[in-house]
Amino acid sequence: MDYEKIPNHIGIIVDGNGRWAQDRGLQRSAGHLAGAENLDEIIDLVFAKGIAYLSLFVFSTENFKRGKKEVNFLMKLIKKKFQKDFVRFQKDQIRMVVSGEREPLSQEINDIIENITEKTKDFRGKTLNICLNYGGQREIIAASKKMYYDIINNRVNIDMVDEKTFYQYLYQSLPPIDLLIRTSGEQRISNFMLYQLAYAELYFSEVYFPDFGKEDLEEALRVYNKRERRFGGYNGSKSNS
Ligand code: IPE
Ligand code: MG
Repeated sequence: MDYEKIPNHIGIIVDGNGRWAQDRGLQRSAGHLAGAENLDEIIDLVFAKGIAYLSLFVFSTENFKRGKKEVNFLMKLIKKKFQKDFVRFQKDQIRMVVSGEREPLSQEINDIIENITEKTKDFRGKTLNICLNYGGQREIIAASKKMYYDIINNRVNIDMVDEKTFYQYLYQSLPPIDLLIRTSGEQRISNFMLYQLAYAELYFSEVYFPDFGKEDLEEALRVYNKRERRFGGYNGSKSNS
């Protein structure tokens, strides 16, 4: 391997499915199908590299603003995808967790999420966090409310709350993101895991997600390896330089 630092947690903002299809004179739905297929490949590649946590932004709360036809298509695709994942994640020992508000999702989707998360909850080493109907600001508000109830019920002492302990109130208690990848040339965070991204390295790829493959992931990891992460501190002992 030509890089030594393997991030512990990677986040990917999946983007460009629609443009991928439009460039080929296809319907946007064809792009979503191609993107969904590529997700399987990316999940395998990421875990094969020894990365322990992968968070995927597959559907934002704001995505519900899209046309009814597209939203319906995506919901059907998500359901089919989860049905396949139910078998695959158990075989590959991938722990799946889901972040986001579950309420507007169909009962069928919520049931299958329940089943997969229950069946895979004891696996360790590979955790896949699916951000579905997710928004980062909403997550922080929901976490603050949970914390408030713990405080007023004397389950936690307000003085003990700090940046680290706050993680336990987020949808999933995951470690911070080390590397964020967004495909399709857009350079925005778009409300993705705002709390967990505080010190992440950001990597923007021009490639549309359905075409984002092994080479592209390896390039992102190479770039990550060249970055110097200082977490606001100062690296190096040459204190007088
Ligand atoms: C990402 O692709 C997939 C979802 C948000 C569901 P887009 O659908 O955002 O594709 P573009 O950005 O329109 O090309
Ligand atoms: Mg987009």
